[in-house]
Amino acid sequence: MLPSLVLGLLWTAICTAEEHTRLRVLVVGGGIGGLAAGKAAKNHGHSVQIFESRQRHRYGGVNYYLWRNGLNALKELGISTGGLGLALSQVRFFDADGKLIRNISLDASEPPWGVDVPRRALLSRLQRPMRRHIHFGKEVAHIECRPMNVSVTFADGTTAEGDVLIGADGCSSTVRRLIFPEAPQPQEAPATSIGGLIELSPLHRSPPARLLRECCRGRAFDYYLRAGVSMLLIPCAPHTVGWVFCVHEALERRKCPHGALAKCTPMEWKTFVEGQFRGFSVPMVSAVLSYIKWGAAEASLKEAGDAHLATTVSNAPVLWRWYDLPELPSYSSDGAVLIGDAAHCLLPTLGLGANSAIEDAVLLFETLRHHGFGDKAAGVTHRPVSLLPGSARLREGLSAYSELRRPRMATMRLMGRKELNKIYVNGPLGNLLRWALLRCASDEAVFTGNAQLYGGYDGLKQFRQRLTHRKENMRPVE
Ligand SMILES: *[C@@H]1O[C@H](CO)[C@@H](O)[C@H](O)[C@H]1NC(C)=O
Ligand SMILES: *[C@@H]1O[C@H](CO)[C@@H](O)[C@H](O)[C@H]1NC(C)=O
Repeated sequence: MLPSLVLGLLWTAICTAEEHTRLRVLVVGGGIGGLAAGKAAKNHGHSVQIFESRQRHRYGGVNYYLWRNGLNALKELGISTGGLGLALSQVRFFDADGKLIRNISLDASEPPWGVDVPRRALLSRLQRPMRRHIHFGKEVAHIECRPMNVSVTFADGTTAEGDVLIGADGCSSTVRRLIFPEAPQPQEAPATSIGGLIELSPLHRSPPARLLRECCRGRAFDYYLRAGVSMLLIPCAPHTVGWVFCVHEALERRKCPHGALAKCTPMEWKTFVEGQFRGFSVPMVSAVLSYIKWGAAEASLKEAGDAHLATTVSNAPVLWRWYDLPELPSYSSDGAVLIGDAAHCLLPTLGLGANSAIEDAVLLFETLRHHGFGDKAAGVTHRPVSLLPGSARLREGLSAYSELRRPRMATMRLMGRKELNKIYVNGPLGNLLRWALLRCASDEAVFTGNAQLYGGYDGLKQFRQRLTHRKENMRPVE
C-alpha cells in the first residue's frame, strides 16, 4: 500500500515537473526530412547540428505533391507555405489516343487538397532557417551509442557527440545500416521513372510553349495511360511543368534495348519514351517531349542511388529506379532513431514520401516533449540529460515514437504497393478493365477513395490521439 502510494506520488511529481531538458540533437542527412527534423528540434529549444555527406545542397529532382497533411506539418514547423507551389484544380485521365476518360474536380474540396511544388522550392524554404546548422561533406563512418550519449565519427576523421542521433539520410541510409546491421535492404520495385521539370521562359512563344503555359494556368494534373506505361504532367509553378514517365518492369524487359531503362543511355531513353507515345496525337505530350534536353542527362547518371536529385540542368531528364523498403522491426535503437525514407521508403505511387518525412519530424519531437525533453516555450532548462533519469527516458521516448508511428507507415507502404498494381496494369485486357473502372467508378473510388490517405487524412491528429491514449494508460492505477 505505502510503496505504491510513494511511487504514485513520485510519478506524479515527474509528470508534472515543469522542467524540460534540452537535448543536443545530431541529424544525419540534409534533405527534406533532415531539415524538417532540425527545424522541429530548434522549435523545441534543443541545440541542433545537421550533417550532410555532400559538399552542398542538391537542388535537382522533380516535384512533390504536398497533401493537406504535409502542408499542416510544415505550418506547425513554422515554415510558411504561402506562395509555395501550385494548388491543382483537377485531375484528368487520358487514354492512349489522348481521349479524356475521366475528369475530377479538386476545387470543390475545402480546405484545398494541397499543392504541387518543385523539389528545390521546398528544399530552399526548409533550408533557410537551418542554414547556420548544416555541416557539409560529412559522411558518416561510425556510430557509437553509449549509455549516456551518442557519438558519430565521419569519414574525414572528425567526430560529433550528442544526446540523440536522427538518421534522415534517405532510402539507402547509412545510419540504418550502422544501427541495424540486420535490417532488410531496400528492394527494387518493378518500375522505373524518368522525369524532369520543363521551365518556360517568357521569351518562349512557340506553340508548345503556349500549350504548356496553358497547362500551368489550367492547374490540371494529367495522367496519360496505356498498358504498362504512364505519363504524368503536373504544373508546379506558374511557368514550370513537372513530367514523370513511368514504365513497368515487364514492358522494360520486352521493349528496352538492354532489358532495363537504367542500363540505357539517355539517347536510348529518348527513343524508348518517344516510341511509347508515337501513336499519341496528344499535343501536350508532344510539347513536353519537344522540350526535354536528353543530351544533358549524362551528368546525373554518374552518381548512383538518388541520382535523380543531382541534376540542375534545366529541362534535363533524370531516371530513378523504384525502391521499396521492407518493414523495419523498429525505428529506434538506444539514442538513435530513423525518420523519413531511412525508416520507411515508400513507393512513389501515393506521393507521400516528403509529406510523411515532414510529419515524422513534427511527431518525433512532440513525443520527446511528452517525455520531458524540450519545450516550445522559452526558458528551457539547460541541463545535461545525464543529470536526470535521462537516458532511459530518452530511449523510452524514441521507442514510443517508433511504436506509435510504425503501424501507420506499414499501412501506407501496403497502399502504395496496391496502387502500383492498379496503375501499371499489363496487357490489353487489364487496360480495358482499367478504363471501364475509370469511366464508371465514383470520384471517391478513383482518387479520393481513401479518405485516410489523401484529403481527409490527418496523420498528426491520429498520432496525437494515440500518444495521449498511451500516456493515460501509463499512469499507475490508484
Ligand atoms: C473538367 O472539369 C472541369 C472542372 O470541373 C471543367 O471546368 C471542365 O470543363 C471539365 N472538362 C471536361 C472536358 O469535361
Ligand atoms: C558521453 O559518454 C561518454 C562515455 O559514456 C563519457 O565519457 C562522456 O563524458 C559523455 N559526454 C558527456 C558530455 O557527458
